[in-house]
Amino acid sequence: MKNFLSVNDVLPLQPALALAREVKANPFADGELGRNKTLLMVFFNASLRTRLSTQRAALNLGMNVIVLDINQGAWKLETERGVVMDGDKPEHILEAIPVMGCYCDIIGVRAFAGLHDRDYDYREEILNQFVQYSGKPVFSMEGATRHPLQSFADLITIEEYKKTPKPKVLLTWAPHPKALPQAVPNSFAEWINQTDYEFVITHPEGYDLDPAFVQGARVEYDLEKAYAGADFVYAKNWSAYTGEPYGKVLHADRRWTVDARKMSLTNNAYFMHCLPVRRNMIVTDEVIDSPASLVIQEAANRVVSAQTVLREILRELA
Ligand code: CP
Repeated sequence: MKNFLSVNDVLPLQPALALAREVKANPFADGELGRNKTLLMVFFNASLRTRLSTQRAALNLGMNVIVLDINQGAWKLETERGVVMDGDKPEHILEAIPVMGCYCDIIGVRAFAGLHDRDYDYREEILNQFVQYSGKPVFSMEGATRHPLQSFADLITIEEYKKTPKPKVLLTWAPHPKALPQAVPNSFAEWINQTDYEFVITHPEGYDLDPAFVQGARVEYDLEKAYAGADFVYAKNWSAYTGEPYGKVLHADRRWTVDARKMSLTNNAYFMHCLPVRRNMIVTDEVIDSPASLVIQEAANRVVSAQTVLREILRELA
């Protein structure tokens, strides 16, 4: 694997899931693979899980790790092309990226959507510039449009807990007070569309996702029908993609909060969320505190997805 930016970099899925199972069963088997190799993790945005799980994965592989928080202690970076740099950003990303590439063997990048300009966000300008100019393998720690390490962990978790070969998986929009990117639901849809599960997406009118990610999934606006018989309920907020204006909260309708009544319509479904989660906005305390909640197991599997990806990139470098 050269880079890891989307599900396309790990297809077909079944061998990738088998590798993940190997990694989980014996996390220290490749402790020499990363010796004298350095991972640089570059964060343009905050993180708890991605930072810790990816670092842990690299340590399990024997790597050295450097973490750079662009907004804390680094020069402010200009990311736009062709601008007169007379503002508060003293360094351009066009120099910063190849310099970062000099100090490491693999680069992980987190760069969220700005939610101001849909075309700019959906071009994945920052991630793609790291791919183009760093000279090193690059993996996404959540870009503007996808969060593949999260989706890989989500799929590993579903495979571990499914009670039927083709479970019904429901992706539901849920309310949130602030505008959030579409990266997690886009990516989740992209990965689940590569399985033979029954996949349903539900959201209020106006919150349609990019059709390139929805693909053939059924979109169901009726909450009762959406939840009926579901085996997994995956909740996430996202801001408007097709609705105007782009990247805004159209409303935060609490009827879409995942609660015990809606979960009672399911086939004893498991509840999933990538975290961090706003309790009693996205999901009630009753549901997230119940045995049906897999949120901690998902977070634990972030080490597995990151280690599987890093292992494959290291093997390519060897
Ligand atoms: N789920 C996830 O990526 O969590 P962090 O934003 O804390 O990394």
